[in-house]
Amino acid sequence: MAKEKDMDDEEIKLTAAYGNKEVLTSGNSEMDKKMGGGIPAGSLTLIEGANDTGKSVLTQQLMWGALQQGFNLATYTTENTIKSLLRQMDSLSLDISDYFAFGTLKIYPIHLEGMEWAEDVPFLEYIIADVKAKPAEVVLIDSLTVFVSEASDSAILNFFASCVNICDGGRTILITAHTFAFGEEVLTRVRSICDAHLSLKKEEVGDRLIRTMEVAKVRGAQRTTGNVVAFEVEPAFGLRIIPISKTRA
Ligand SMILES: Nc1ncnc2c1ncn2[C@@H]1O[C@H](COP(=O)(O)OP(=O)(O)OP(=O)(O)O)[C@@H](O)[C@H]1O
Ligand SMILES: [Mg+2]
Repeated sequence: MAKEKDMDDEEIKLTAAYGNKEVLTSGNSEMDKKMGGGIPAGSLTLIEGANDTGKSVLTQQLMWGALQQGFNLATYTTENTIKSLLRQMDSLSLDISDYFAFGTLKIYPIHLEGMEWAEDVPFLEYIIADVKAKPAEVVLIDSLTVFVSEASDSAILNFFASCVNICDGGRTILITAHTFAFGEEVLTRVRSICDAHLSLKKEEVGDRLIRTMEVAKVRGAQRTTGNVVAFEVEPAFGLRIIPISKTRA
């Protein structure tokens, strides 16, 4: 019962949040509610999970919401080309091609296949320099895994600290990464550096595969902490929250 009361309060806050750019919403009101109204503008968010847990789709949903709110957005992708990203989002009914055509959305594919990895190439520093040089209000990186896997602990922590500095200037950064990319100790520190932390999981319940998102932390929205929601990725819709009780059926 107490939980439902919280939801009501949150709903009021959520309604107030729409129409301004204080928070970044997903365009899916149920999803936003679970995040206490959305991701606060000016914050650094880590979206973490294993393979195929929905990190990219969640990012795309947030990208769609942010663009609709009028944010300027830049997305760095190691997983898509411009064409494949536009096509994938279109297949989820998250058509962003107009924003791309008008330049509100910039897409930067980063492809490292076939490159020789050298220990001392500071890829994370290059990314930071590039983000600093570009004016987008919202920056998405999907995913950081390949860079993190090759970087030293101190380079990783410096990278996240630089992101915090950029966010202090009012910009919003969302980063996805595979949990396995980090050592345990670094991951703990990275999680605490970030203002928001969403943890995605995939589990089998009976013969069904369920994806969940844990809102482990959202700065300024304490009550959301620990919120777990189950969701499905539905073609021609995007992310759809499903009641936990249904997932247990
Ligand atoms: N365009 C789409 N239409 C339908 N289902 C999709 C679409 N895109 C993704 N999905 C579903 O969502 C699931 C999660 O995909 P997503 O790419 O978001 O995971 P991820 O965590 O980013 O994976 P990875 O670790 O490979 O980066 C996919 O297995 C697929 O079932
Ligand atoms: Mg992905």
